[in-house]
Amino acid sequence: MGLDVWDLSSPLLLLWVNRFYIYLGCALGATLWICIQITIRKQNLLTNGSLSLQKKPTYVSGVKIFYGSQTGTAKGFASILAKAVTSLDLPIAVINLKQYDPDDNLVGEITSKTVCVFLVATYTDGCPTESAEWFCKWLEEAANDFRFGKTYLKGLRYAVFGLGDSAYQSHFNKVGTNVDKWLWMLGACRMLTRGQGDRNAVQSKHGSIEADFEAWKSKFLSRLQALLQGEKKTCSGECKRGKCGSIQHGPGEAKPEPQEQGQSHPKEEEPFESSEEEETGFHDLQSLNAVVDVEDLGTIMNHMKKEKREKQQPEDKTEHVEDKEERAMITPALREALTKQGYQLIGSHSGVKLCRWTKSMLRGRGGCYKHTFYGIESHRCMETTPSLACANKCVFCWRHHTNPVGTEWRWKMDQPEVILKEAVENHQDMIKQFKGVPGVKAERFEEGLEVKHCALSLVGEPIMYPEINKLLTLLHHRGISTFLVTNAQFPEEIRNLIPVTQLYISVDASTKDSLRKIDRPLFKDFWQRFLDSLKALATKQQRTVYRLTLVKCWNVDELQAYAELVSLGNPDFIEVKGVTYCGESSASNLTMANVPWHEEVVRFVRELVDLMPDYEIACEHEHSNCLLVAHKKFKISGEWWTWIDYTRFQELVLQYNKSGGSETFSALDYVARTPHWALFGAREKGFDPKDTRYQRKNKVKDVSGC
Ligand SMILES: Cc1cc2nc3c(=O)[nH]c(=O)nc-3n(C[C@H](O)[C@H](O)[C@H](O)COP(=O)(O)O)c2cc1C
Ligand SMILES: *[C@@H]1O[C@H](CO)[C@@H](O)[C@H](O)[C@H]1NC(C)=O
Ligand SMILES: *[C@@H]1O[C@H](CO)[C@@H](O)[C@H](O)[C@H]1NC(C)=O
Ligand code: SF4
Repeated sequence: MGLDVWDLSSPLLLLWVNRFYIYLGCALGATLWICIQITIRKQNLLTNGSLSLQKKPTYVSGVKIFYGSQTGTAKGFASILAKAVTSLDLPIAVINLKQYDPDDNLVGEITSKTVCVFLVATYTDGCPTESAEWFCKWLEEAANDFRFGKTYLKGLRYAVFGLGDSAYQSHFNKVGTNVDKWLWMLGACRMLTRGQGDRNAVQSKHGSIEADFEAWKSKFLSRLQALLQGEKKTCSGECKRGKCGSIQHGPGEAKPEPQEQGQSHPKEEEPFESSEEEETGFHDLQSLNAVVDVEDLGTIMNHMKKEKREKQQPEDKTEHVEDKEERAMITPALREALTKQGYQLIGSHSGVKLCRWTKSMLRGRGGCYKHTFYGIESHRCMETTPSLACANKCVFCWRHHTNPVGTEWRWKMDQPEVILKEAVENHQDMIKQFKGVPGVKAERFEEGLEVKHCALSLVGEPIMYPEINKLLTLLHHRGISTFLVTNAQFPEEIRNLIPVTQLYISVDASTKDSLRKIDRPLFKDFWQRFLDSLKALATKQQRTVYRLTLVKCWNVDELQAYAELVSLGNPDFIEVKGVTYCGESSASNLTMANVPWHEEVVRFVRELVDLMPDYEIACEHEHSNCLLVAHKKFKISGEWWTWIDYTRFQELVLQYNKSGGSETFSALDYVARTPHWALFGAREKGFDPKDTRYQRKNKVKDVSGC
């Protein structure tokens, strides 16, 4: 807040530097004014924060004109507009969207007080031009991602002109419409109604697409001028939602468009405050945040009810009987919600998503903590699940509102061959979208196309899928390593599982009561199942891991109980990480107060290790607020061997398969030495020195399901 006031007053000060005394007087006056402003604001006496600012001109540092053009029309309009804006004596940039990385730069346009104009054409099936593809995809995902929040682009002033052809009817100007909508959903401030250029001269409002643009252009220029003169109704650049709403009803101004109705925008919702952006480990909290905006739930559930009703009135009775037995796990409504969030759904119960660390590593910006601890190449890692369903209905989880929960498989089932094939294809398609994206390293891109690892942990419970062993075998036969995470409710299935590269159990709590409170399991005998699952883990010869997610005030006080659980499952490793706060939601009571600091996680782990003589702290990934505790057998001649020899694993697992399961192997047979930078206490704090650390301007976290 204070900063904004300074930014606004500095140009005023400059205007007044005529004489020294005036300057001094004004400076003192301004300082006093600022102090008063700050005090008033702090005391919340000024409910309408912009009251006193309305008299002052709004500061605009410049105009950026972005275009997404294929045959050059939008590009031409961009330079026409740029010429027109020149008269206003503002810095102007004309930018091809292909060269723009919204992930790195869009938030920065708010602080720099840039007005952003988007001139975007629509092509076949309502798609953007190839040059605007990445931008649109990023924007759509952000807009539909609950973690970005509805204030992510608060204060960004923008205007959209779409280019299209009404002959394409339902796809007419779809890209312009969407860009406008997505920016609006992210809290940006629309300066004027979206313009619609129409190639179809007969239909075109002004007779030609050029005339459409001219008309919009002059409206835009007058809005811009008004903005520079500080017109009352103009968004001040520090607009709250409520205020932006008021300009939309202003004279001749952007009216709320139909698609916006029903969107609620909390006034003062701040984006997430934690400085680290990391995947949550808390398996169900993550599911909630990664999957469905809680606010969408009402809509989704209504859809689902409707679908159910429709199903109850079948035209064909024989089909209905089957239908009852073999229901699809993902309903069309749920599918739509998941797809919007960047999930690629496969068949009727599986999904893949591109993990944020995969993206990060493609760009040489560091891998996930599993890169640090085990040498996973994050840019070649496919995050997937063969079962979006689960047997818990955690307090944080959207799933108890919807169908896919159950204690056993009761849905239509897809074959593992199909799931694998489509998962890899979808994953590769998502990687391909990174071609030419600013910052992506060519050799990593090439490597990324070849999947080397599979993290079976996106959401849901992978071992509920009846053909999980088949799927694992298929993965291994393709040379893909397998990290599988389970929720400790299916001991029999854990026992029956064939060797995987690394098998995880989520240990969300250490006592019966807190487990019930946190996981809200469906099984009545959940505690016995939990303990049996840990015992089942102990029988495994390959690498096993407990995953502990610390939530302050929920599960951090039961050290002795954790130590006892460790002796039950005797895992090779224990990953401990602090829960990540992902913004408020109506389904969770979690607040920032529940998020432990890195030092608190370190202290917890030290105390825990003191209770377990066979274990030591091996590695650290500070960025994820995560530590690795390892069994001492992985410390060979004073050196840690927590990394994995993936090639060796593939050889061993092939042998195992060929021998029909008689030639087994153990965790120590496929270890690799841990590099120095990954060790606990290293100067790099777990950041691979091959990569470049990148500090984000925004605070948005990315929740990976892994
Ligand atoms: C192959 C093709 C497909 C198109 N599909 C659409 C469409 O689905 N919807 C639409 O509104 N306009 C459509 N258009 C019209 C273009 O958006 C329009 O020609 C626009 O002015 C192109 O801008 P550009 O020259 O900057 O690429 C299409 C044009 C072509 C050539
Ligand atoms: C969350 O808070 C609400 C109201 O404060 C309370 O009723 C509910 O029991 C809490 N839920 C949990 C899981 O603590
Ligand atoms: C070996 O692989 C085949 C598929 O190629 C599979 O059917 C079989 O069950 C596997 N055997 C073991 C012991 O994993
Ligand atoms: S899916 Fe998991 S293991 Fe794979 S890159 Fe992402 S965080 Fe790392």
